[in-house]
Amino acid sequence: MNEPHQGEFCITSENDIVMARKVVRDAATALGFGITDVTRIVTAASELTRNIYHYAKSGVMHWRSLNQDARVGLELTFEDSGPGIVDLEKAMEMGFSTGKGLGMGLPGVKRLMDELVIESTVGKGTTVVVRKWLKK
Ligand SMILES: Nc1ncnc2c1ncn2[C@@H]1O[C@H](COP(=O)(O)OP(=O)(O)OP(=O)(O)O)[C@@H](O)[C@H]1O
Ligand SMILES: [Mg+2]
Repeated sequence: MNEPHQGEFCITSENDIVMARKVVRDAATALGFGITDVTRIVTAASELTRNIYHYAKSGVMHWRSLNQDARVGLELTFEDSGPGIVDLEKAMEMGFSTGKGLGMGLPGVKRLMDELVIESTVGKGTTVVVRKWLKK
């Protein structure tokens, strides 16, 4: 692999949601993901970027390639210093939204990715880590 193995991207404006999709699309494609998985990963990244923009106003997305036990994957980390999530369990439920959303973002991300870890502290911020593994 001659492609860069990691990178980061600041989310500060609505246009960055579009830009983040492109960054993630390029990274996933370079790693060898097929069109279906690329679309899943890009959709998940889009939802998480949108959440940062809507609830925290700004944040950072890090991406890096994974090489574990002969498996290749892509890890995306979304970090913000926003208000945090009061009830994580509720936030993961389909249809739960504190805003005007449909509450489909986080449950959708869970379905689209192989792994999802959320850490959130009210008043401090939220970190969401998602991973997708390349199928052999
Ligand atoms: N980064 C974040 N910071 C603070 N709260 C968040 C963050 N991400 C999600 N949340 C909280 O979790 C809830 C559920 O998020 P989710 O993305 O599933 O739905 P939504 O954003 O409300 O609607 P949708 O994504 O369908 O437009 C949000 O309404 C919000 O309260
Ligand atoms: Mg959302």
